[in-house]
Amino acid sequence: MVVKAVCVINGDAKGTVFFEQEAEGSPVKVTGEVNGLAPGLHGFHVHEFGDNTNGCMSSGPHFNPYKKEHGAPTDGDRHLGDLGNITASGDGPTPVNISDSQITLFGENSIIGRTVVVHADPDDLGKGGHELSKTTGNAGARIGCGVIGIAKI
Ligand code: CU
Ligand code: ZN
Repeated sequence: MVVKAVCVINGDAKGTVFFEQEAEGSPVKVTGEVNGLAPGLHGFHVHEFGDNTNGCMSSGPHFNPYKKEHGAPTDGDRHLGDLGNITASGDGPTPVNISDSQITLFGENSIIGRTVVVHADPDDLGKGGHELSKTTGNAGARIGCGVIGIAKI
């Protein structure tokens, strides 16, 4: 049974991101676009809480149910919410086109009801040597976010 979810991102960065998973255990396709980004890489994560009462700050840390360190999407040792970076060219909307085998739309670790956050700066994927590298990738301010909800099929 395919599950679809959607996230409308608001803030200085705005956009819409769609999530689709064919079945439990299959990869999640993440597609869409984000506007309002300066050229370059921008950290792109799922944060723990679907709470935007105090803007993007209320979404808490990166979604990390397995208590791992921050990492790259391709790392085994990563937060579940670590989707890496999206790349703004400075020319038109920034595309989001990710296939991820760790996040899921099924079960207790589903990302539905949590928050997508877009950052001002690049995520160093845990390898930057900064004191924040192993927790946030030193990705800077939260410039756009939105809660992931169940999509109309
Ligand atoms: Cu983040
Ligand atoms: Zn992380």
